[in-house]
Amino acid sequence: MIIRKSPDEIERIARAGALVAETIAHVGEHLVPGVTTAELDDIADAFIRARGGIPTSQGYKGYPRAICISPNDVVVHGIPGDYRVASGDLVTVDVGATLDGAIADSAYTYAVGAIEPEAQRLLDTCQDALWAGIAEARTGNRIGDISHAVQGVVQSAGFSVIRSLVGHGVGRHYHEDPHVPNFGAPGRGPRLSEGMTIAIEPMITMGNPDVLLDDDGWTISTVDGSLSAHFEHTVAITGEGPRVLTPRVGIARERARLLQ
Ligand code: MF3
Ligand code: CO
Repeated sequence: MIIRKSPDEIERIARAGALVAETIAHVGEHLVPGVTTAELDDIADAFIRARGGIPTSQGYKGYPRAICISPNDVVVHGIPGDYRVASGDLVTVDVGATLDGAIADSAYTYAVGAIEPEAQRLLDTCQDALWAGIAEARTGNRIGDISHAVQGVVQSAGFSVIRSLVGHGVGRHYHEDPHVPNFGAPGRGPRLSEGMTIAIEPMITMGNPDVLLDDDGWTISTVDGSLSAHFEHTVAITGEGPRVLTPRVGIARERARLLQ
């Protein structure tokens, strides 16, 4: 069942979304070679709680940490720990925050120091795919229109969409209906209507799209070890078109897109 939210509830999700965006930016400021992902998690946990929020991932289905941090071939759900960030890494910071009972979810893959041109192209493509999906998040369209737009951008660039991981409804619960796949046919799937709030989140790889679940029960990595990227926004379907509820702070390139 898809939960449609009132304008008031969407404002609350937007406040949670602002906290999520600030947290991602704050973690980004500390994302330097030598820092461990456990240290970054502690920083995020303190930041969210100091602002009256709760890290939604903490305790979700037994997840042990405040946020997910996924370096390089780790696609999603990397558990913060002893890993030391190094120059050249691609590090995904995935944050859910609950504020005043409302939940928002967003992810951003940072480049640490100088990275290979092909890795930069992977990041650019994943962001382009997210924004192509967001552009389709309007009343009258269907989920498949989002999925198809995301898939088109990724495949045109010669990269692969991971099929076993999908976006989702969000807002009252961390994961609600509907599923938001990153591949599919236009005109298919649930119809989008005002008040729906969904997390659109392309997860893509440079090589084989198959992924593997680690023995820790959470960490999902590419089977072939190829680099991955993951960008996510929580988006509301409104009468005036898509509204991004987790707009980036301190990231100039994406700010510019919002003004377009
Ligand atoms: N934020 C993740 C998502 O995009 C969910 C993480 S669940 C956790 O859906 F338990 F691993 F944190
Ligand atoms: Co999500």
